[in-house]
Amino acid sequence: MTIIKNASQILTLAGNDLGVIEKSSIVINADKISDVRYPASNIKCQITIDATNCVVMPGYVDCHTHLVFAGSRENEFAMRLEPRPSNKGNEKFKDVKKCRTKTQNEERGEGKTYKEILSAGGGILQTVSETRKASKKELIDLAQKRIDELIQWGTTTVEIKSGYGLDTASELKILRVINQLKKANKDKITIVPTFLGAHAIPFNISKTTYIKKIISEMIPRVAKENLAQFCDVFCENFVFDAKESKKILKRAKKFCLVPKIHADEIESSGGAEVAGEVGAISAEHLLYPSDKGLKTMRQKNVVAVLLPGTTLFLKSKQIPPIDKMRKLGLTIALGSDYNPGTCMIYQMPIIIAFGCLLYNMSLNEAIRGATINSAKALGLDKKIGSIEVGKNADIIILDIPDYKHIPYQFGKNLIKTVIKKGKVIYSRKIRG
Ligand code: NIG
Ligand code: FE
Repeated sequence: MTIIKNASQILTLAGNDLGVIEKSSIVINADKISDVRYPASNIKCQITIDATNCVVMPGYVDCHTHLVFAGSRENEFAMRLEPRPSNKGNEKFKDVKKCRTKTQNEERGEGKTYKEILSAGGGILQTVSETRKASKKELIDLAQKRIDELIQWGTTTVEIKSGYGLDTASELKILRVINQLKKANKDKITIVPTFLGAHAIPFNISKTTYIKKIISEMIPRVAKENLAQFCDVFCENFVFDAKESKKILKRAKKFCLVPKIHADEIESSGGAEVAGEVGAISAEHLLYPSDKGLKTMRQKNVVAVLLPGTTLFLKSKQIPPIDKMRKLGLTIALGSDYNPGTCMIYQMPIIIAFGCLLYNMSLNEAIRGATINSAKALGLDKKIGSIEVGKNADIIILDIPDYKHIPYQFGKNLIKTVIKKGKVIYSRKIRG
């Protein structure tokens, strides 16, 4: 047995808030939490971990990443940074208002938008070319480095999507890589695989033909080989529209793949409605959901997964309608969306800070979003995401006396110790 003693604060996340308790201890028996006590327990344990002046909380759960890919897209990042138009002496942009109302999300003057880059064959399609060329071994090596790093920042469960293959062989290759990583890292981090064949329309094939392939070939193979738990779709009018997304997700359900959906990220496309209609476990991004869509999500208990790192990366002026989500009582989770195009950030404390700073989330909402609610978006909230008796002992110890330091010092790694299934798997020497 192991005991974690003298924590300045334990964030249990039990109940509806952070569940902060002070000067308490946690007892771990094998891989489970067996006791949470106030005051410090006197139970005899073989291992004692002193958490004086530290915050102890559940490991972060990152419920949305695209972590397996080859190559990088720094050029695209730079393309989006092109200067905004100035209306002074610039005839072309004299009517700035007109130029900005082109579409909801194309208010960036000369800077290229995500949609323009993808439509011109870049974006996701660039990563697809590079990922198709990479061997399984190359993809594993690249992804393993990323996984090692995110563990060091306190993530103990991570979802990973395919989606940079876009043909049967390449999608299966990526899912096999994810499953190999899952097995190899099972004592360090829980990996949850998601099939995202419907991520973009590949070159040299019509959308109709590609959807047929997803439906008749990919989904049955993924299910037969048990390669994924979830099936996701990039639902946008310019990628897979609401009708097409619904068709794909309904088919996935038939094969016991639980639906997830990239919904209303770039434009309002009816994605939130689809999430409710197909009974998705979660809908992600949600910058432009309709009121009806949000209501449908609430009726079906769909978790709203917000990805503020992407909002910053894409320089979006739009944020999710968080007040409406609160009023409806939606469960709000946070994910990193780590991927080479729209968010190269995997550090969950940074995502928590962005949730607070960009989306006006309270610290309570953001920390719940990155732990228990993110676990809910993966259907794992009965096992992880909070410090409660019977749950997996996935615990992090932070070198701070108060949890408010988490967003306040978001650029600094505050991790002292990472415990996965009851075992210390990472610890850092803290300087000064
Ligand atoms: O969640 N929107 C679709 N998928 C990712 C981006 C993937 C990429 O651009 O490579 C996202 O933002
Ligand atoms: Fe994504």
